[in-house]
Amino acid sequence: MNPIVFPHNLADAFSGFTERYDRIAIVVDKNTATKVLPMLQHECNDLRDAVVTVVNDGEESKNLATVEKLWDAWLQAGITRNSVVVNIGGGIVTDLGGFAAATWLRGIPFVNVPTTVLAMVDASVGGKTGFNFHNIKNCVGVFAEPLHIIMLPQTLQTLPVEHRFAGLAEMLKHALLTSEEMVDETLALDMEKALDNSFVAMLHRNIAVKQRFVESDPRDNGVRHALNFGHTFAHAFEALALQKGQPVLHGNAVAWGMLAALWLSHVRLGFPKQMISTLMQWVRENYAVMPFDCNDYDSLLTFMMGDKKNGFNQIRTVLLANIGYFRTGEVVSKDEVFEALDFIREF
Ligand code: GLY
Repeated sequence: MNPIVFPHNLADAFSGFTERYDRIAIVVDKNTATKVLPMLQHECNDLRDAVVTVVNDGEESKNLATVEKLWDAWLQAGITRNSVVVNIGGGIVTDLGGFAAATWLRGIPFVNVPTTVLAMVDASVGGKTGFNFHNIKNCVGVFAEPLHIIMLPQTLQTLPVEHRFAGLAEMLKHALLTSEEMVDETLALDMEKALDNSFVAMLHRNIAVKQRFVESDPRDNGVRHALNFGHTFAHAFEALALQKGQPVLHGNAVAWGMLAALWLSHVRLGFPKQMISTLMQWVRENYAVMPFDCNDYDSLLTFMMGDKKNGFNQIRTVLLANIGYFRTGEVVSKDEVFEALDFIREF
């Protein structure tokens, strides 16, 4: 796996790029274009002459048209195999910019600078790149490892609280796959306050959890599926919301998706009910409800069938017998899915 760095000194993070590469292509979203890029360009001479492309925020922009926008900009700017792409933003930027770089001229190097909690602990690590197609999340993509991942926790200061919580959902997922102690510490984090040393320590722990799964199964053929915990439901919530023109944050969908998966875990494997109650209350307090009702169940089921992890006409998901004890590839029935959806709507 390629190095993850937490630079003390921003100027050092990119030094030497102008000698090593003929051009630098930066990919940012509207938020990082104004809040992060100027700070980086101020500190790092090497980034000042870069070709900058701004992509639109939001899941609805994670599509082929945005990838083409990047390729168009790079064609015009003469981005070659001796160039490098620097993706500065959340998971949408690192997924899109990584894919565009990995396929441009059959692949040029790229660096990720994740600026959201979610991108730091999950999206930017592990080499997954791609975009949504016909409302199916991450339907098209390639595995491509970034050259470096540069972590700048100071960029999180400008991140809206709602986005911090979205990332926290992925941290809870890591904790549920690891230990009760990590779950307790995650639930105790105060995301509204400044992001202090204890939070940065948790970032390190989460990145280590993610790296362990990725190193064991880089191509996502086995144990890495565990990182999909809650995501079969979450991707369906996101796809439905996108179809209704009311996109939801990925992390919010993951928070609710994990509750649905925990209910199934209880029914199938005896996951402790008391822990589900605690987590349900925490999710209700911190995450907006998903925009669906029982009339949407069939559509959600169809989206779940389309999930990349499934075989034909089956829904395979990750379930937990307890915190830290997961089972991948559990086939669940339509009735079980509907019961889990009832549970998160009515609990
Ligand atoms: N986000 C899940 C994975 O990287 O496998």
